[in-house]
Amino acid sequence: MAAATPAFPRGSGAPDIVVGPLDLAARVDEALAVQAVAFGLSQDEIDVRRHIVLRHLDDPRARALGATTPEGRLAGFVYGLPNNRAHWWSTVVEPYLRATGSEGWLDDSFVITELHVHPDFQQRGIGRSLITTVTDAVDQPRSILSAIDTESPARGLYRSLGYQDLARRVGFPGAPRPYAVMGAPLPLRRGR
Ligand SMILES: CC(C)(COP(=O)(O)OP(=O)(O)OC[C@H]1O[C@@H](n2cnc3c(N)ncnc32)[C@H](O)[C@@H]1OP(=O)(O)O)[C@@H](O)C(=O)NCCC(=O)NCCS
Repeated sequence: MAAATPAFPRGSGAPDIVVGPLDLAARVDEALAVQAVAFGLSQDEIDVRRHIVLRHLDDPRARALGATTPEGRLAGFVYGLPNNRAHWWSTVVEPYLRATGSEGWLDDSFVITELHVHPDFQQRGIGRSLITTVTDAVDQPRSILSAIDTESPARGLYRSLGYQDLARRVGFPGAPRPYAVMGAPLPLRRGR
């Protein structure tokens, strides 16, 4: 396993937080607890997500990183894997991308499946560090993701990294709100 690296410049808002490899299968409950507070998940949704996360981790190409405090508390996490057109997420977004002529983004693309930072630790550069660090280590030349189709901190972060809208008003079965699908060339853009 690679050594964890301090991810933040001196003087940043998260000097003691370390971003490094996360054994997400072992710490899935902790990660989902972060997601539940950051994103808002019911207990039923947590139970469903738990199965999905563990299934994704069967893919040896899945990558997970955690942001950890000196006490070992998980402040945030990211995980993703190369897109698989047979996966549910890809089958849902595919017709929307085809309609905008951007279906090719589904090939050779690293999907950011989840990115969440606990509210106690937000706005200190942790989310930015997690997503840039995980994508820097992958082989794919581009990255795609879906985010709720509203002007959220997540959408602002993704745009600042070079993600652009590939499709909007994307409906996932069971999801009450539409999503936007976004894509960016790798490596992600640095600077503001
Ligand atoms: C999105 C999220 C992961 C960002 O994590 P974070 O550690 O707070 O983000 P950072 O401190 O690295 O900030 C990165 C950028 O995000 C945007 N951002 C973060 N918080 C913001 C806020 N409250 N308002 C507006 N923009 C914000 C900014 O573009 C910021 O860049 P800047 O600092 O250069 O202005 C975090 O807000 C979160 O977990 N949100 C809830 C869950 C969620 O929506 N996850 C994404 C699902 S698609």
